[in-house]
Amino acid sequence: MMDEVNEFDFENRIVSNEYDSTQDSEVENSLRPRTLDEYIGQEKAKGNLKIYIESAKRRGEALDHVLLYGPPGLGKTTLSSIIANELGVNIRTTSGPAIEKQGDLAAILTNLNDGDVLFIDEIHRLSRAVEEILYPAMEDYALDIIIGKGPSARSIRLTIPRFTLIGATTRAGQLTTPLRDRFGVLLKLELYTTEELATIVRRSADILGIGITDDGARAIASRSRGTPRIANRFLKRVRDFALVIGDGTITSDIAKQALQALEVDELGLDSIDRRMLETIIHVYGGGPVGLETLAATVGEEAITIEDVYEPYLMQIGFLSRTPRGRCATKLAYDHLHIPFHPGMTDNQSRMNFDEE
Ligand code: ADE
Repeated sequence: MMDEVNEFDFENRIVSNEYDSTQDSEVENSLRPRTLDEYIGQEKAKGNLKIYIESAKRRGEALDHVLLYGPPGLGKTTLSSIIANELGVNIRTTSGPAIEKQGDLAAILTNLNDGDVLFIDEIHRLSRAVEEILYPAMEDYALDIIIGKGPSARSIRLTIPRFTLIGATTRAGQLTTPLRDRFGVLLKLELYTTEELATIVRRSADILGIGITDDGARAIASRSRGTPRIANRFLKRVRDFALVIGDGTITSDIAKQALQALEVDELGLDSIDRRMLETIIHVYGGGPVGLETLAATVGEEAITIEDVYEPYLMQIGFLSRTPRGRCATKLAYDHLHIPFHPGMTDNQSRMNFDEE
C-alpha cells in the first residue's frame, strides 16, 4: 500500500493546488477578476480592503503593507493585482525563493515608483539576510548599505520610494515575528463556499464561452475543495467531456461523470485524501497520530499535508487536530464506509477476529 502512495505523482494530481504559470497562463489571466467588485467571495477581507484603499487614496499616501495568508489557490496573487489596480499604481511581482541576494531586493526596491505595490509570493521563504534589508525598507522607506569591509566599513542610508509591500504565505505562523509585525494589514483568506464557487464557475464559463447549467456549475463547485483554482481547472476538464460525450453544454450529469472519471468523489476528495484518512483509521486506530509520523507513512511532506490536504478535510469535519495529533472523525469513517471503532487498528481488529 505504501509503495502505491509513494508512486503517486503529486504534480499531476488533478486537485493539486500547485499553480503552474507555464500552463494556460493566458486563459488563467483572462479569468482573473480586475476589480474588487468583480472578485467573488472573501467578503470580510474585501470589505476591509475597500476602506483601507479608499483611505490611502484620500490621504494621498501609500497603502500600509498587507499580509495575505491562507491555503494555496484562494486568489492571493489575484487580490494583490486588484489592490494595485484599485490604487491606480503599478505592481511588481516576485517570490521569496526568487530573491537570492540582498542586492536582488535592493535593485527591485530602488526601481519602484512612489506608491507602487511590490508583491512577494511565498514570503516566508525569504532568506534571513534578505529579510533584514526589508525591515528598514518597510518601516522607513530606507535601504542601509554597508560600504567597505572591516574597521573602515560604514553604513549609508538611501531613501527609496514609498511603496506598499504585499506578502503572501500559506500560514502567517511561518513568518518570523519581526517581519510579521511590520505588516499593518493582516488578511486571512478563507476557503470558499459552494455557492461562491458556483458563481465563479459560471463567470469563468461565460468568459471561456462554455455552456453550463446552474446544476452543472454546482456539481463542479461542490467537488472543488473550497478552492477557485481547482474549480477553474475542473471546469476546463469537464468541458472536454461535455464536448466529446455530450452536446457541449455542461450539465450536472456530465460534471459528475467527468469528475468520477478523474477519481474525484462527490466531496472533492481524491485518492490521496482517501488514503490519508484510511491510514489514520487502519494503521493508527483513527488517531491521534503525529503529523510527522503520518507524513512519513503516507509518503508526503508534513508541510504539504498541513497546507494542501488538511484545511479542506478539517473544514468538512473529517479531520481534527488535537494536541496529541491528527484524528479521523466519525464523518470520515462514514464517508469511507468503515465501521466506527476508534482506537482499533487493523491488527487489533484482526486479533479480535482470530479470537472469536
Ligand atoms: N477566479 C478565481 N478566483 C476568483 C474570485 N475570487 N472571484 C472571481 N473570479 C475568480
